[in-house]
Amino acid sequence: NDEKRTLLVTGGCGFIGCNFVRLVNRELPHWRLINLDKLTYAGNLQSLAGVEENERYRFVCGDIGDAELVERLFGEEQIDTVVHFAAESHVDRSIVGPGEFIRTNIVGTFTLLEAARRHWPGQNGGEARRFLHISTDEVYGSLGATGLFSETTPYDPRSPYSASKASSDHLVSAYFHTYGLPAVITNCSNNYGPYQFPEKLIPLVCNNALQGLTLPVYGDGKNIRDWLHVEDHCRALVAVLQRGRPGHHYNVGGNSEMANIDVVRMICDLLDQRVGLLPDGRQHRELITFVRDRLGHDRRYAIDASKIKAEIGWQPAIRFADGLAATIDWYLEHRAWLEAVLDGSYQDYYRTMYGHA
Ligand code: NAD
Ligand code: DAU
Repeated sequence: NDEKRTLLVTGGCGFIGCNFVRLVNRELPHWRLINLDKLTYAGNLQSLAGVEENERYRFVCGDIGDAELVERLFGEEQIDTVVHFAAESHVDRSIVGPGEFIRTNIVGTFTLLEAARRHWPGQNGGEARRFLHISTDEVYGSLGATGLFSETTPYDPRSPYSASKASSDHLVSAYFHTYGLPAVITNCSNNYGPYQFPEKLIPLVCNNALQGLTLPVYGDGKNIRDWLHVEDHCRALVAVLQRGRPGHHYNVGGNSEMANIDVVRMICDLLDQRVGLLPDGRQHRELITFVRDRLGHDRRYAIDASKIKAEIGWQPAIRFADGLAATIDWYLEHRAWLEAVLDGSYQDYYRTMYGHA
């Protein structure tokens, strides 16, 4: 593929963003990357170690809500593609303090849309331009025991996080319909894989288990998520940039529904195999502790990914059992990364959530 693009990637130092930057850096030599990231607690330059050596890559530390900065980048760099990951992404944090979710996820997205609108007037020669907005399946609300989220499922967000993402999705759609902005929205299910911040279920459980801490499972542990390896997600995003139709949503999912308690047990069993039993001879499963449920906890998410499969030809390649084992191995091999991201602010957050650090 020799198509040239200049991408403004927002949030490229976060979990999915850094996996995307790494994928493009490896496999798409004709794409330039401008990574705009504020380096919040969730953004880490160490996740991109090695990438900065590439002359096609530039890092800019800044806020997507800084209109002057965003405006300047569009002009200086002749951006033709936006891949918008930057967000406050953790549901529990949105319950404790929604303000930053409104500022970054809604106002920040609006700031990017305004710059794109000004710099991409009309569609002349603009066929290759794309504003790819990375969204979530959580905007669709919560499923009962049956059914799947499709692109026509009505929005029904139920947490401050998902409401802020839904708002930003609506703004992006409005800019397509009103101004002809060549925008595409992807709504993806739960990602897992390398470089995920250890506040999310899989890395949190792995990290706690390695330290012999309790493994908090919310409610009855039977809430269901549809897990997708981050590499599969990033490949879907590249394919949507290349073949997605402006004005369309594409649901991206792993076809891999799991109850939380089963995911936690799988991680425990993998750790028993990889690092052996706990020092006192117990299995890692013994650390599992059922705790108070998340407020407004969505029961089940599951994606119908037939549109992206039929139109774009994408489908997940990594089976959950294989991807989870590889992910646990990655965390075991990258303890220095884990320690580096677990700074004082993480300890404070963890204390607020669970009462101990
Ligand atoms: P993350 O929390 O790991 O990373 C977010 C990144 O955005 C960080 O690098 C952070 O520094 C940066 N950032 C935050 N506020 C910023 C601001 N105001 N300006 C510039 N940069 C800012 O998030 P993630 O899990 O990688 O998610 C990325 C995107 O994908 C989000 O939009 C999220 O809603 C969406 N998404 C995530 C999942 C998932 O399972 N993680 C699933 C579907 C969709
Ligand atoms: O569905 C996509 C969404 O997936 C993304 O939009 C979000 O950015 C991402 O954070 C993720 O949201 P979840 O709330 O599903 O992910 P989390 O890892 O926080 O939780 C997964 C499930 O595990 C959820 O049902 C809550 C539960 N859980 C989570 C934590 C952190 C626990 O039981 N214990 C925990 O300690």
